[in-house]
Amino acid sequence: EKGNYRHFMEKEIHEQPESCQRTLSAFANPVSGQTTVPGGLNFAEVERIQIIACGTAFYAGEIGRYAFEKLAGLPCDVEVASEFRYRQPALTKGTLALAVSQSGETADTLAGLTWCKAQGFKTACLVNVHTSSMAREAEIVWPTWAGPEIGVASTKAFTAQVSALLALAVAAARQRGRIDAAEETRLVARLFEAPGLIAQAVADHSEAMTAVAHDLAGARDVLFLGRGAMFPLAMEGALKLKEISYIHAEGYAAGELKHGPIALIDEATPVVVLAPPDEVFEKTVSNVQEVAARGAEVILITSQDAKVPHAPGLRRIVAPDCDPFIAPLVYAVPVQLLAYLTAVQKGTDVDQPRNLAKSVTVE
Ligand code: F6R
Repeated sequence: EKGNYRHFMEKEIHEQPESCQRTLSAFANPVSGQTTVPGGLNFAEVERIQIIACGTAFYAGEIGRYAFEKLAGLPCDVEVASEFRYRQPALTKGTLALAVSQSGETADTLAGLTWCKAQGFKTACLVNVHTSSMAREAEIVWPTWAGPEIGVASTKAFTAQVSALLALAVAAARQRGRIDAAEETRLVARLFEAPGLIAQAVADHSEAMTAVAHDLAGARDVLFLGRGAMFPLAMEGALKLKEISYIHAEGYAAGELKHGPIALIDEATPVVVLAPPDEVFEKTVSNVQEVAARGAEVILITSQDAKVPHAPGLRRIVAPDCDPFIAPLVYAVPVQLLAYLTAVQKGTDVDQPRNLAKSVTVE
Protein backbone atom coordinates (compact mmCIF):
# COMPACT_ATOMS: atom_id res chain seq x y z
CA GLU A 1 0.00 0.00 0.00
CA LYS A 2 2.90 2.31 0.66
CA GLY A 3 4.18 1.66 -2.86
CA ASN A 4 7.72 2.95 -3.18
CA TYR A 5 7.47 5.11 -0.10
CA ARG A 6 9.13 4.30 3.21
CA HIS A 7 6.24 5.63 5.26
CA PHE A 8 2.61 6.57 4.83
CA MET A 9 3.54 10.08 5.90
CA GLU A 10 5.96 10.38 2.98
CA LYS A 11 3.33 9.00 0.62
CA GLU A 12 0.71 11.40 1.94
CA ILE A 13 3.04 14.39 1.60
CA HIS A 14 3.46 13.41 -2.04
CA GLU A 15 -0.29 13.04 -2.58
CA GLN A 16 -0.93 16.70 -1.80
CA PRO A 17 -1.04 18.07 -5.35
CA GLU A 18 -4.01 15.77 -6.04
CA SER A 19 -5.74 16.15 -2.67
CA CYS A 20 -5.47 19.95 -2.90
CA GLN A 21 -6.79 19.97 -6.48
CA ARG A 22 -9.71 17.66 -5.61
CA THR A 23 -10.65 19.72 -2.57
CA LEU A 24 -10.41 23.06 -4.38
CA SER A 25 -12.67 21.65 -7.09
CA ALA A 26 -15.45 21.15 -4.53
CA PHE A 27 -15.44 24.89 -3.76
CA ALA A 28 -14.38 26.59 -6.98
CA ASN A 29 -14.41 26.12 -10.71
CA PRO A 30 -11.11 26.79 -12.48
CA VAL A 31 -12.85 27.29 -15.84
CA SER A 32 -15.56 29.77 -14.82
CA GLY A 33 -13.37 31.29 -12.12
CA GLN A 34 -16.26 31.14 -9.68
CA THR A 35 -16.55 29.80 -6.16
CA THR A 36 -19.44 27.71 -4.85
CA VAL A 37 -20.53 27.05 -1.30
CA PRO A 38 -21.69 23.43 -0.97
CA GLY A 39 -24.86 23.22 1.10
CA GLY A 40 -26.02 26.60 -0.12
CA LEU A 41 -24.96 28.86 2.74
CA ASN A 42 -24.98 32.61 2.07
CA PHE A 43 -22.10 34.28 3.93
CA ALA A 44 -23.89 37.64 3.59
CA GLU A 45 -26.25 36.33 6.28
CA VAL A 46 -23.44 35.26 8.59
CA GLU A 47 -22.24 37.82 11.12
CA ARG A 48 -19.40 35.88 12.67
CA ILE A 49 -17.69 32.53 12.31
CA GLN A 50 -16.66 30.45 15.30
CA ILE A 51 -14.22 27.74 14.29
CA ILE A 52 -13.80 24.83 16.70
CA ALA A 53 -11.01 22.30 16.21
CA CYS A 54 -8.08 20.45 17.78
CA GLY A 55 -4.40 20.13 16.91
CA THR A 56 -3.51 20.48 13.27
CA ALA A 57 -7.14 21.25 12.33
CA PHE A 58 -7.00 24.15 14.81
CA TYR A 59 -4.00 25.61 12.97
CA ALA A 60 -5.80 25.20 9.64
CA GLY A 61 -8.69 27.09 11.24
CA GLU A 62 -6.35 29.93 12.27
CA ILE A 63 -5.14 30.23 8.68
CA GLY A 64 -8.79 30.33 7.62
CA ARG A 65 -9.44 33.13 10.10
CA TYR A 66 -6.79 35.37 8.54
CA ALA A 67 -8.45 34.88 5.14
CA PHE A 68 -12.07 35.33 6.31
CA GLU A 69 -11.24 38.57 8.08
CA LYS A 70 -8.86 40.05 5.50
CA LEU A 71 -10.71 39.12 2.32
CA ALA A 72 -14.33 38.96 3.41
CA GLY A 73 -14.33 41.35 6.38
CA LEU A 74 -16.04 38.56 8.27
CA PRO A 75 -15.19 38.39 11.98
CA CYS A 76 -13.84 34.96 12.84
CA ASP A 77 -12.76 33.32 16.08
CA VAL A 78 -10.90 30.06 16.38
CA GLU A 79 -10.66 28.04 19.56
CA VAL A 80 -9.39 24.67 20.63
CA ALA A 81 -12.44 22.52 21.21
CA SER A 82 -11.43 21.24 24.66
CA GLU A 83 -11.60 24.81 25.99
CA PHE A 84 -14.56 25.95 23.94
CA ARG A 85 -16.85 23.14 25.03
CA TYR A 86 -16.55 23.76 28.78
CA ARG A 87 -16.25 27.51 29.18
CA GLN A 88 -19.73 28.57 28.10
CA PRO A 89 -18.59 30.95 25.38
CA ALA A 90 -20.77 34.01 24.75
CA LEU A 91 -21.52 33.62 21.06
CA THR A 92 -23.49 36.38 19.40
CA LYS A 93 -26.56 36.09 17.18
CA GLY A 94 -25.72 35.32 13.55
CA THR A 95 -22.70 33.19 14.44
CA LEU A 96 -21.91 30.22 12.22
CA ALA A 97 -20.24 27.43 14.21
CA LEU A 98 -17.72 25.58 12.05
CA ALA A 99 -16.07 22.37 13.23
CA VAL A 100 -12.87 21.50 11.35
CA SER A 101 -11.76 17.89 11.60
CA GLN A 102 -10.06 15.25 9.50
CA SER A 103 -11.78 12.31 11.18
CA GLY A 104 -15.05 14.01 12.05
CA GLU A 105 -14.93 12.00 15.28
CA THR A 106 -12.71 14.01 17.66
CA ALA A 107 -14.66 13.98 20.93
CA ASP A 108 -14.07 17.59 21.99
CA THR A 109 -14.77 19.04 18.54
CA LEU A 110 -17.95 17.02 18.22
CA ALA A 111 -19.08 18.12 21.69
CA GLY A 112 -18.45 21.78 20.79
CA LEU A 113 -20.48 21.39 17.62
CA THR A 114 -23.34 19.71 19.47
CA TRP A 115 -23.33 22.47 22.09
CA CYS A 116 -23.61 25.17 19.39
CA LYS A 117 -26.44 23.33 17.71
CA ALA A 118 -28.32 22.98 20.98
CA GLN A 119 -27.95 26.73 21.53
CA GLY A 120 -29.66 27.29 18.19
CA PHE A 121 -26.66 28.41 16.14
CA LYS A 122 -26.22 27.50 12.52
CA THR A 123 -23.65 24.70 12.26
CA ALA A 124 -21.26 23.50 9.59
CA CYS A 125 -18.36 21.09 9.53
CA LEU A 126 -15.33 20.73 7.31
CA VAL A 127 -14.49 17.04 7.44
CA ASN A 128 -12.41 14.55 5.51
CA VAL A 129 -14.55 11.58 6.54
CA HIS A 130 -17.84 12.47 4.91
CA THR A 131 -19.92 9.93 6.82
CA SER A 132 -18.52 10.81 10.25
CA SER A 133 -20.38 11.82 13.42
CA MET A 134 -19.73 15.51 12.74
CA ALA A 135 -21.11 15.15 9.21
CA ARG A 136 -24.29 13.70 10.71
CA GLU A 137 -24.50 16.37 13.39
CA ALA A 138 -23.90 19.56 11.39
CA GLU A 139 -26.50 21.25 9.24
CA ILE A 140 -24.00 21.95 6.48
CA VAL A 141 -21.27 19.50 5.52
CA TRP A 142 -18.25 20.79 3.66
CA PRO A 143 -15.98 18.04 2.38
CA THR A 144 -12.22 17.90 2.12
CA TRP A 145 -11.02 15.38 -0.44
CA ALA A 146 -7.68 14.29 0.98
CA GLY A 147 -8.65 10.61 0.78
CA PRO A 148 -7.83 8.22 3.63
CA GLU A 149 -5.00 9.51 5.81
CA ILE A 150 -3.08 6.71 7.51
CA GLY A 151 -0.04 8.46 9.00
CA VAL A 152 -0.87 9.69 12.48
CA ALA A 153 0.76 13.05 11.78
CA SER A 154 -1.67 14.91 9.56
CA THR A 155 -0.29 16.29 6.28
CA LYS A 156 -2.59 16.07 3.28
CA ALA A 157 -5.71 16.52 5.43
CA PHE A 158 -4.20 19.80 6.71
CA THR A 159 -3.52 21.24 3.25
CA ALA A 160 -6.97 20.07 2.14
CA GLN A 161 -8.52 21.97 5.07
CA VAL A 162 -6.52 25.08 4.22
CA SER A 163 -7.49 24.76 0.53
CA ALA A 164 -11.17 24.60 1.44
CA LEU A 165 -10.99 27.48 3.93
CA LEU A 166 -9.18 29.77 1.47
CA ALA A 167 -11.76 28.99 -1.23
CA LEU A 168 -14.61 29.58 1.24
CA ALA A 169 -13.07 32.92 2.20
CA VAL A 170 -13.12 33.96 -1.47
CA ALA A 171 -16.76 32.83 -1.71
CA ALA A 172 -17.59 34.79 1.45
CA ALA A 173 -15.84 37.90 0.11
CA ARG A 174 -17.86 37.69 -3.09
CA GLN A 175 -21.20 37.07 -1.37
CA ARG A 176 -20.57 39.94 1.03
CA GLY A 177 -19.75 42.30 -1.82
CA ARG A 178 -16.14 42.81 -0.72
CA ILE A 179 -14.71 41.73 -4.09
CA ASP A 180 -16.08 41.86 -7.63
CA ALA A 181 -16.33 39.00 -10.12
CA ALA A 182 -12.95 39.89 -11.67
CA GLU A 183 -11.19 39.69 -8.32
CA GLU A 184 -12.96 36.41 -7.54
CA THR A 185 -11.69 35.00 -10.85
CA ARG A 186 -8.17 36.23 -10.08
CA LEU A 187 -8.16 34.62 -6.63
CA VAL A 188 -9.63 31.36 -7.93
CA ALA A 189 -6.85 31.26 -10.54
CA ARG A 190 -4.27 31.75 -7.74
CA LEU A 191 -5.84 28.91 -5.75
CA PHE A 192 -5.57 26.53 -8.69
CA GLU A 193 -1.87 27.38 -8.99
CA ALA A 194 -1.36 25.74 -5.61
CA PRO A 195 -1.41 22.06 -6.69
CA GLY A 196 1.40 22.61 -9.22
CA LEU A 197 3.47 24.63 -6.75
CA ILE A 198 2.92 22.00 -4.06
CA ALA A 199 4.19 19.43 -6.57
CA GLN A 200 7.34 21.53 -7.05
CA ALA A 201 7.85 21.84 -3.31
CA VAL A 202 7.35 18.10 -2.78
CA ALA A 203 10.07 17.40 -5.33
CA ASP A 204 12.66 19.35 -3.31
CA HIS A 205 15.47 16.87 -2.79
CA SER A 206 17.95 19.69 -2.26
CA GLU A 207 21.07 19.27 -0.22
CA ALA A 208 19.93 22.21 1.89
CA MET A 209 16.82 20.33 3.00
CA THR A 210 18.77 17.16 3.89
CA ALA A 211 21.49 19.11 5.67
CA VAL A 212 19.00 21.08 7.74
CA ALA A 213 17.09 17.93 8.73
CA HIS A 214 20.41 16.45 9.80
CA ASP A 215 21.09 19.44 12.03
CA LEU A 216 17.59 19.53 13.48
CA ALA A 217 17.91 15.86 14.42
CA GLY A 218 20.72 16.86 16.79
CA ALA A 219 18.81 19.72 18.42
CA ARG A 220 16.99 19.62 21.74
CA ASP A 221 14.78 22.61 21.03
CA VAL A 222 13.69 24.27 17.80
CA LEU A 223 11.82 27.54 17.29
CA PHE A 224 9.50 28.20 14.35
CA LEU A 225 8.65 31.80 13.51
CA GLY A 226 6.23 33.45 11.10
CA ARG A 227 3.95 36.43 10.64
CA GLY A 228 0.43 36.58 9.23
CA ALA A 229 -0.79 33.19 8.06
CA MET A 230 2.78 31.95 8.54
CA PHE A 231 2.28 32.21 12.30
CA PRO A 232 -0.25 29.36 12.52
CA LEU A 233 1.88 27.48 10.00
CA ALA A 234 4.88 27.96 12.33
CA MET A 235 2.83 26.37 15.14
CA GLU A 236 1.87 23.54 12.82
CA GLY A 237 5.54 23.03 11.91
CA ALA A 238 6.47 22.86 15.59
CA LEU A 239 3.67 20.36 16.25
CA LYS A 240 4.77 18.14 13.33
CA LEU A 241 8.36 18.13 14.55
CA LYS A 242 7.50 17.29 18.15
CA GLU A 243 4.99 14.59 17.22
CA ILE A 244 7.25 12.50 15.03
CA SER A 245 10.81 13.34 16.07
CA TYR A 246 10.18 14.00 19.80
CA ILE A 247 12.19 17.20 19.60
CA HIS A 248 10.78 20.05 21.64
CA ALA A 249 9.59 22.79 19.31
CA GLU A 250 7.60 26.00 19.66
CA GLY A 251 5.87 28.11 17.05
CA TYR A 252 5.77 31.85 17.67
CA ALA A 253 4.54 34.97 15.98
CA ALA A 254 7.83 36.51 14.83
CA GLY A 255 6.89 39.82 16.46
CA GLU A 256 6.58 38.11 19.85
CA LEU A 257 10.23 37.11 19.83
CA LYS A 258 11.44 40.03 21.90
CA HIS A 259 8.66 39.52 24.43
CA GLY A 260 10.27 36.41 25.83
CA PRO A 261 11.39 33.64 23.52
CA ILE A 262 14.51 35.51 22.41
CA ALA A 263 15.96 34.51 25.78
CA LEU A 264 16.11 30.94 24.49
CA ILE A 265 18.24 31.82 21.50
CA ASP A 266 21.73 30.37 21.46
CA GLU A 267 23.97 28.37 19.11
CA ALA A 268 22.21 25.14 20.02
CA THR A 269 18.65 26.27 19.22
CA PRO A 270 17.90 26.32 15.50
CA VAL A 271 15.27 28.82 14.38
CA VAL A 272 13.12 28.00 11.35
CA VAL A 273 11.64 31.15 9.82
CA LEU A 274 8.76 31.00 7.34
CA ALA A 275 9.07 34.11 5.20
CA PRO A 276 7.35 34.29 1.84
CA PRO A 277 7.97 37.63 0.13
CA ASP A 278 4.74 39.29 1.27
CA GLU A 279 3.84 42.62 2.87
CA VAL A 280 5.42 41.66 6.20
CA PHE A 281 8.58 40.16 4.73
CA GLU A 282 10.84 43.07 5.78
CA LYS A 283 9.62 42.81 9.36
CA THR A 284 10.31 39.10 9.45
CA VAL A 285 13.79 39.68 8.02
CA SER A 286 14.57 42.10 10.83
CA ASN A 287 13.58 39.37 13.31
CA VAL A 288 15.95 37.04 11.46
CA GLN A 289 18.76 39.54 11.96
CA GLU A 290 18.00 39.72 15.68
CA VAL A 291 18.34 35.98 16.15
CA ALA A 292 21.28 35.61 13.77
CA ALA A 293 23.12 38.31 15.74
CA ARG A 294 22.74 36.14 18.84
CA GLY A 295 24.54 33.25 17.19
CA ALA A 296 21.51 31.13 16.34
CA GLU A 297 21.42 28.86 13.36
CA VAL A 298 18.65 30.33 11.20
CA ILE A 299 16.86 28.33 8.54
CA LEU A 300 14.98 30.74 6.35
CA ILE A 301 12.27 29.27 4.14
CA THR A 302 11.62 31.77 1.37
CA SER A 303 11.53 32.12 -2.40
CA GLN A 304 14.56 32.07 -4.68
CA ASP A 305 14.41 35.79 -5.45
CA ALA A 306 13.69 37.12 -1.98
CA LYS A 307 16.38 39.56 -0.83
CA VAL A 308 17.94 38.09 2.24
CA PRO A 309 20.71 39.71 4.30
CA HIS A 310 23.98 37.87 4.64
CA ALA A 311 24.46 36.63 8.14
CA PRO A 312 26.67 33.90 9.51
CA GLY A 313 24.64 30.86 10.45
CA LEU A 314 21.85 31.71 8.03
CA ARG A 315 20.74 29.08 5.56
CA ARG A 316 17.99 29.22 3.02
CA ILE A 317 15.51 26.58 1.95
CA VAL A 318 13.95 27.67 -1.32
CA ALA A 319 10.17 27.47 -1.61
CA PRO A 320 8.43 27.89 -4.96
CA ASP A 321 7.53 31.45 -5.90
CA CYS A 322 3.83 31.99 -5.20
CA ASP A 323 1.16 34.57 -4.56
CA PRO A 324 1.08 35.35 -0.80
CA PHE A 325 -2.58 34.26 -0.73
CA ILE A 326 -1.62 30.63 -1.34
CA ALA A 327 1.67 30.71 0.58
CA PRO A 328 0.17 28.72 3.52
CA LEU A 329 -0.44 25.82 1.11
CA VAL A 330 2.93 25.99 -0.61
CA TYR A 331 5.01 26.60 2.54
CA ALA A 332 3.27 23.74 4.36
CA VAL A 333 5.33 21.34 2.26
CA PRO A 334 8.89 22.31 3.31
CA VAL A 335 7.63 22.42 6.89
CA GLN A 336 6.30 18.85 6.61
CA LEU A 337 9.40 17.62 4.80
CA LEU A 338 11.70 19.03 7.47
CA ALA A 339 9.75 17.25 10.22
CA TYR A 340 9.63 14.05 8.20
CA LEU A 341 13.30 13.98 7.23
CA THR A 342 14.36 14.88 10.78
CA ALA A 343 12.33 11.97 12.17
CA VAL A 344 13.77 9.59 9.57
CA GLN A 345 17.23 10.79 10.54
CA LYS A 346 16.43 10.02 14.18
CA GLY A 347 14.93 6.65 13.29
CA THR A 348 11.63 7.17 15.09
CA ASP A 349 8.41 5.37 14.19
CA VAL A 350 7.12 8.05 11.82
CA ASP A 351 3.67 6.62 11.09
CA GLN A 352 2.92 5.52 14.65
CA PRO A 353 4.46 8.06 17.04
CA ARG A 354 4.46 7.00 20.68
CA ASN A 355 1.39 7.84 22.76
CA LEU A 356 -0.62 9.17 19.81
CA ALA A 357 -3.80 7.87 18.18
CA LYS A 358 -5.09 8.83 14.77
CA SER A 359 -8.55 9.59 16.00
CA VAL A 360 -9.08 10.98 19.51
CA THR A 361 -12.60 9.85 20.32
CA VAL A 362 -12.19 10.23 24.08
CA GLU A 363 -11.42 13.57 25.70
C1 F6R B 1 -1.45 16.30 14.26
C2 F6R B 1 -2.72 15.59 14.36
C3 F6R B 1 -3.68 15.96 15.45
C4 F6R B 1 -5.08 16.10 14.86
C5 F6R B 1 -6.12 16.35 15.97
C6 F6R B 1 -7.48 16.59 15.40
O1 F6R B 1 -0.66 15.83 13.24
O2 F6R B 1 -2.98 14.74 13.57
O3 F6R B 1 -3.30 17.15 16.08
O4 F6R B 1 -5.07 17.15 13.93
O5 F6R B 1 -6.14 15.25 16.82
O6 F6R B 1 -7.95 15.50 14.67
P1 F6R B 1 -9.17 15.63 13.70
O7 F6R B 1 -8.77 16.53 12.59
O8 F6R B 1 -9.46 14.23 13.23
O9 F6R B 1 -10.30 16.21 14.48
